[in-house]
This record gives sequence, C-alpha cells and structure tokens, in this order.
Amino acid sequence: MNISIFGLGYVGAVSLACLARDGHDVIGIDVDLAKLALIREGRTPIVEEGMVELMRDVAVSGRASVTDNVQAAVLGSEISMICVGTPSAANGSQDQSALVRLAHDLGRSLREKSASHVFVFRSTMVPGTVEDVLTPIIERESGKTNGVGFHVAFQPEFLREGSSIRDYDKPPFTIVGAATEAPVAALRGLFGHLPGDFVQTSIRTAEMLKYSCNNFHALKITFANETARLCQGLGVDPFEVMDLLSRDRQLNISPAYLKPGFAYGGSCLPKDLRATIHLAKMCDVDLPMHGAIAASNRVHVDHAIAKVMESGKRRIGMVGLSFKTGTDDLRESPLVQVTEHFIGKGLDVLVYDPEVHLSKLLGANRRFIEQHVPHIGSLLRQELADVVSGSDALVLGLNDRMTVDLLRPLVRDDHVIVDLVGVPERESLRGRYVGLCW
Ligand SMILES: NC(=O)c1ccc[n+]([C@@H]2O[C@H](COP(=O)([O-])OP(=O)(O)OC[C@H]3O[C@@H](n4cnc5c(N)ncnc54)[C@H](O)[C@@H]3O)[C@@H](O)[C@H]2O)c1
Repeated sequence: MNISIFGLGYVGAVSLACLARDGHDVIGIDVDLAKLALIREGRTPIVEEGMVELMRDVAVSGRASVTDNVQAAVLGSEISMICVGTPSAANGSQDQSALVRLAHDLGRSLREKSASHVFVFRSTMVPGTVEDVLTPIIERESGKTNGVGFHVAFQPEFLREGSSIRDYDKPPFTIVGAATEAPVAALRGLFGHLPGDFVQTSIRTAEMLKYSCNNFHALKITFANETARLCQGLGVDPFEVMDLLSRDRQLNISPAYLKPGFAYGGSCLPKDLRATIHLAKMCDVDLPMHGAIAASNRVHVDHAIAKVMESGKRRIGMVGLSFKTGTDDLRESPLVQVTEHFIGKGLDVLVYDPEVHLSKLLGANRRFIEQHVPHIGSLLRQELADVVSGSDALVLGLNDRMTVDLLRPLVRDDHVIVDLVGVPERESLRGRYVGLCW
C-alpha cells in the first residue's frame, strides 16, 4: 500500500520504519527539515531501541522517502496517517494548531485528487476533534464530502517510548474509530495481522479511549507510589506489597470494579480508606490521591440525588437499599445516603430491597440503619408492586435481571426511572428513563 505519514516524531518515525519494513511504500512529511534530512540519509530522527538498524535497512530497501510537499504526499498515497504533536497549551487545553494547519493543507491537496483518500488520525486528540474540527476543514478546503470524496478514521496509538518497535509489533489491541467501511478495510490490511483484537468503534469512543488509557496509567503509577510512600512510613516492603497486589487477577488486575455504576459503600471500603488516610497522617505521609477518593465518591452520590430532584417528582420509590445487589448489608450504603437526603427534603419515600428484612437485621447493620433512617420500618415494603404503585419516580439501585423482570409489568408511562446501576435490558422498561452515566 502507498502510505503518507505526517509528523515524524516518536509515533510517525516508528510507523514509517515499521510500515516500510513490512513491505509498504511510505512517504514521510514533516515541517522540520532536519528530520527529513536524517531519514533521507537512513538515520533515525528519534532515539529509540532498534531504530538505528531499522532506519538503515529501510533506506536500503528504497521503500521510504521523505518530502515537505503535502500535495505530493497526498497525491502519491492512498492513505495518510496524521501523527503531528498535540502538546498542552498554557491553560492545560490541547494545542491543536499543528493539526488544524495540517488539515487545511490536506484539504487543499485533496482538491487536486480524483481518487478517494483515507485520513487516519493517530495524534491523541480530545473527543470530537476529528468529526467537529478537522473533517469540516478538510471538506471546506477540498470541496469534497466526507464518506464520498474522502474517509476519516481515528486509530489511537498505544506505543511507549523506549519500547516503540516492540509495542508496534505487539499492541494490546488495534482500535479503529470510523463511521465508514473504507478506512476500516484499509487499516485491517495494514494492522490486521498484529496480535490483539482488531476492534471497530465510533470515532469519539476511540478518541476518548486513548485519554482513558493514559489517565488510567497515570492513576496506577500514582497509586503504586502513594502506597509505597505509606509502606516506607510503616517500614513495610512496598515492592512485596505491590507484587502481591498484582498477583490477584480476580479482583485487582482484572475488569472487576471497572464498570461504571453507582458509588462504592459498604462495611469495608469507606472505613478502610479512612483508616489508611489517618495512618498516613500519623506517619507524616501525604496521600493526595487516596485523600480525594471519598470526595469523588460523594460527587457521584450527589449526581444521583440531583438527577432525582431534577425530575420534580415527590413520591420516590427506592428499588434497592443495601450497598450492593445480593446483600442485606446497609452499612455506609450510598443508597441509604440518597434515601436520607430525600427524607430530609420532605419527599415521600418507599423502599424495596428483596434482601433487607428489618426483623432479620442484627448488630452493627441494624444500628446503622436505625441511626440514619430511624423510621425505616414504615418505608420498607415486602412487595415491589407496592413501591411502584406508590411512587412517581423510581430509583434503581439493584442491577439483577430478576428485579427488572418484576418491574417491567408494573412501571407506568408517567414514571421517571432514574437508573443508578445500568440495569440489564433497560430499553424494555416503560416510563421516562434517566441514566446516571449512560
Ligand atoms: N510519544 C508517544 O509515546 C506517543 C504515544 C501515543 C500517542 N502519542 C501521540 O501522538 C502524537 C505525536 O506524538 P509524538 O511524540 O510523535 O510527537 P513529536 O513532537 O515527537 O512529533 C511531532 C512531529 O510533528 C511534526 N509536525 C508538526 N506540524 C506538522 C505539520 N503541519 N506537518 C507535518 N509535520 C508536522 C513536528 O515537526 C514533529 O516532528 C501526539 O498527539 C501524542 O500525544 C504519542
């Protein structure tokens, strides 16, 4: 395939070298003429393991060339990969000036081309940039229509500096955000042989995914370092702790706890986090990330409360009360916090939770609910039907299929349904559906 690559920094230079190595004819374009000169001489513009040898081989193969002429590159290729930098502006926003300038040049160049062309954006960019910013510029400048005269895609790059070539050859997955088939087919041809799943999604999802991945990596590093600082304060070996933590593939290094839903609560997480923060203070160790977790959790509870209050309904049916589905543990349940708030605002509240039977609640669990919702007995109903018929807004905090099946024939068209957990088959419920985060 004939490929043009715009921006020959860490991402672009490695892509150019690897694609040429794999037998494609690649044209590299950069505004930095020094980089073009280096590549022309078979030298690498970046310091990266394996790049010296690879660039030398690529030069010998004759499959890579460079130019600063955008039009020649677009006319001489079927597909363009855009890898220019997207640094931070002074206020933290993304500086898209290089992308925007290039989009104008690409559009103007496309005007002269009769065949269709594929633009694959690989620079990291805030969600919406491809569809709302760059595509309209290309359409305007080229006089062509997206999806006909040209196609766009966003393919996030997952390589890490220091191991770029190895990461290129073994990505975690290949994600292609596209609204038309042409770029997907082209990218499958280029990258379909690589290990890892090849996943097609929307452009915005792919753009957002790249940010989420990087933010998650930053979060993990910070978590490990904060844990290590606390370990040091306590005289515990942080390497052993983190090594053992990573060996739990069921709950720790796994999809567990990574599904959006409602706030955490229960008898362990809130109290153990509080104890950790207290312990850190005792050791004079600062843990800002751990310290922010409970505040963020509270924001999620407040978000749920706001969604219900916005409905304007005054008769609220709580479907679920315990801190998670399948338990009767009410201690520090965020659903209890929500219920307390509604009662405090003078709303009428009814509660259904198949696991919660007042007569069976014992010890700390019973004391907790009696302290927070003293007249819980008068709010609890054994039958879901009684809660549904006596309320105008339903707050769903149980995410099991059985509850949804029970709920389906009972819900009225005028019910507002505020789903905190992402119940299964939510589209089958009547009423006005309000998702907490979906
Ligand atoms: N570096 C990484 O490990 C990495 C990994 C994944 C994603 N990314 C993302 O990929 C993008 C590129 O990152 P990088 O580290 O390769 O950047 P870089 O700064 O090393 O290289 C960017 C290149 O783009 C060139 N450029 C600027 N304007 C241009 C134009 N109009 N036409 C042609 N070339 C132009 C610059 O001269 C430079 O050589 C960024 O959005 C980055 O966030 C980087």
